[in-house]
Amino acid sequence: MSSIVGPTIGPNPILAAMPSPDANPGATDPVAIIGASGALGFGVAIRLARAGVPIAIGSRDPDRAQEAAQRALSVVPDGSFTGYANDEAARAAQVVILSVPFRSHSETLTNLKETLEAGQLLIDATVPLAAAVSGKATRMLGVWQGSAAQQAAEMAPEGVRVVSALHTISAASLTDLEHPLEQDVLLCGDRRADKTEAARLIERIDGLRCVDCGPLEMARITESLTALLIGVNSRYKVHAGVRLAGLPDPDWE
Ligand SMILES: NC(=O)c1ccc[n+]([C@@H]2O[C@H](COP(=O)([O-])OP(=O)(O)OC[C@H]3O[C@@H](n4cnc5c(N)ncnc54)[C@H](OP(=O)(O)O)[C@@H]3O)[C@@H](O)[C@H]2O)c1
Repeated sequence: MSSIVGPTIGPNPILAAMPSPDANPGATDPVAIIGASGALGFGVAIRLARAGVPIAIGSRDPDRAQEAAQRALSVVPDGSFTGYANDEAARAAQVVILSVPFRSHSETLTNLKETLEAGQLLIDATVPLAAAVSGKATRMLGVWQGSAAQQAAEMAPEGVRVVSALHTISAASLTDLEHPLEQDVLLCGDRRADKTEAARLIERIDGLRCVDCGPLEMARITESLTALLIGVNSRYKVHAGVRLAGLPDPDWE
């Protein structure tokens, strides 16, 4: 697979820059990650890229996105990374992962309003931790809509499909490529087909198993597990995640 750190100027160069599955039969559709210059987004980016998924890294600052793309490439030399401003990155892929601090969640979605389109899948990993307003990372903020994912569903343009995921995987575990994950990813979403699409993507990462946790309103609970895990992990000095016992491997067919 080719390694790309693309230009950020000119008329929408992204789709031309991203390798298309047609051009390379071994390739797959690109995924955009908004906030991939940060901890969780970067970890997801390198894990997915290692599984063969081309990644469009989005940042508020295109230079920072390109720097993150170079950094990712140094970790996964076989990977395909482009670095772009958030809106350009979101235009580059059918699947967009949103991984930003909750304090900038609504602003980021507002800025993407003209960019996101009906049919795109938005996987929201954002957690409304109280840390977003200088509170404790082991406490949650109340969100009027119920959860960050429900706020995303309300703010995204009509027809954008929102799935909530990835809240219980620590950035540290993802970024350490030697670290075996063996964890569950708790998915919430209002349509099974959307969760299936998200699961098929996420399960490309070795060791991750996706579990259908019900409709998007359940994200209020799955998002709050991050606060629980932050407390546990700090107490035990580990990067533990979640694994549900007694569950047959979910069938995402
Ligand atoms: N870290 C974890 O282990 C983990 C695990 C599960 C869930 N989460 C959740 O995932 C989301 C991202 O977490 P993270 O640890 O990756 O966060 P982070 O490193 O602090 O931020 C991620 C990216 O968000 C962008 N961003 C946009 N607005 C921002 C603002 N006002 N202040 C700071 N950054 C801003 C930044 O990218 P640009 O500056 O390039 O735009 C930044 O690199 C959070 O909602 C978090 O609760 C994190």
